[in-house]
Amino acid sequence: MNILITGTSSWIWKYLEKNLRENNNIFSFSRWNWYDLTKIETFENIKSSLKKIPFLDKQGLGMVILNAWVWEFWKFEENSLEKYENIINLNLLANIRLLKILENFINKNTKIIFMGSIISKKFMKNAAVYQASKFGLRGLAGGLKKEWKKVFLINPKIVDTDFHKNKIKLNNKFEKTSLESILLAVQEIISWKEQRFEIDL
Ligand SMILES: NC(=O)c1ccc[n+]([C@@H]2O[C@H](COP(=O)([O-])OP(=O)(O)OC[C@H]3O[C@@H](n4cnc5c(N)ncnc54)[C@H](OP(=O)(O)O)[C@@H]3O)[C@@H](O)[C@H]2O)c1
Repeated sequence: MNILITGTSSWIWKYLEKNLRENNNIFSFSRWNWYDLTKIETFENIKSSLKKIPFLDKQGLGMVILNAWVWEFWKFEENSLEKYENIINLNLLANIRLLKILENFINKNTKIIFMGSIISKKFMKNAAVYQASKFGLRGLAGGLKKEWKKVFLINPKIVDTDFHKNKIKLNNKFEKTSLESILLAVQEIISWKEQRFEIDL
């Protein structure tokens, strides 16, 4: 299957990409390979890169995984507007932009996976704008599900990654999601064993 993923340079999707690469063609985009999804010109660059891949024209994408994100912790007044605009830009707007430019590569068989979060289901303090971006993403995914059918939303709880370092102490109070369970969910979406829209892990 041809799979496009945003943000595979670290943690969750670095692990997943490594495991999915065995049986699939992976096309990944993030800043490590010069695709900054907060910049408007990036989307035309992605389109031209994909156009250069001959078999993609015929086969299209079997799956699109929208994963790239950023967030800022702490109280609303403690971060700048610039940081907040960046969160909405990357976590929400970039996915809409990407799906628009992918129109020629996606078809009725393409599965779209949105990486959501527990934070799009439950109100939490100290992350209001990040929370808004994930609620927005959940709305986008749910709306598209009504139109396109093959749309999925994976909501991990806390995944033990570097990202939490120096921010919160991951003690037993927090429910965690393993990398393996996220991989399994994706594999089961690929094989059609998993058919639910929203997968809370
Ligand atoms: N970690 C958790 O506890 C947790 C919990 C629930 C849900 N999730 C969800 O899981 C997903 C991945 O989490 P993770 O922990 O694996 O995150 P991560 O390690 O921070 O990875 C984020 C990815 O986003 C990319 N990215 C950041 N800024 C970008 C930009 N401007 N343009 C393009 N790509 C950009 C990064 O690549 P570059 O640096 O190369 O750009 C990186 O590959 C997120 O959607 C998150 O909401 C995570």
